[in-house]
Amino acid sequence: MKELSLNILDIVENSIKNGAKNVELIINEDRKKDILSIVVKDDGRGMDEKILRDVFDPFVTTSKNKNVGLGLPLLKEEAEGCGGSVEIESKKGKGTVVKVTFRCSHIDRPPMGDIVSTVISIIATNPDIRFSYIHTVNGKTERFVTDDVKAAPGENALKNLRILKEIERFLRDKVKSLYGGETDGKN
Ligand SMILES: Nc1ncnc2c1ncn2[C@@H]1O[C@H](COP(=O)(O)OP(=O)(O)OP(=O)(O)O)[C@@H](O)[C@H]1O
Ligand SMILES: [Mg+2]
Repeated sequence: MKELSLNILDIVENSIKNGAKNVELIINEDRKKDILSIVVKDDGRGMDEKILRDVFDPFVTTSKNKNVGLGLPLLKEEAEGCGGSVEIESKKGKGTVVKVTFRCSHIDRPPMGDIVSTVISIIATNPDIRFSYIHTVNGKTERFVTDDVKAAPGENALKNLRILKEIERFLRDKVKSLYGGETDGKN
């Protein structure tokens, strides 16, 4: 994949397809330690031992409309090719944690890409999920939790286009400051 933000969208879609109601995305980019890590935690249905064991096999999927699941196997190949890894912890009925690392400075490490569009697309298409996004770049952290977005009583703010636009603007500012004012999408 060309951008990590698209891999992230993939991992979060797995969480949502598998029944998560709470999803947490934690990104930590540490140039000094030369590690970029992405953690996605969910409270979905989890994997049974057999799926967990075979999850990096491209012919393993629980999807009903196809017989290959490429998301995780390709991600693992990509991360390992960049001095990193993909680790999964999952408990049936409890939830799943996917942890991806890359060596930040690896020449083949894909750029972060448009993480704000990924976050907006997740919350706009899943307004009933509680989503939190915590992003650290070289020790500086920004946080966004859907719970913090308030709407009129009885209204779901995440179904309101004007509010989504506001969140997008807010996040673009935050992410821009994380990257020291650069927004060329090549982080
Ligand atoms: N967060 C999760 N919770 C529970 N099961 C998961 C989760 N993520 C992945 N899985 C299981 O692992 C399988 C493989 O995931 P993977 O992303 O590789 O393929 P897929 O989602 O089935 O297909 P694709 O990503 O190509 O659309 C899934 O079919 C599902 O059974
Ligand atoms: Mg998938």
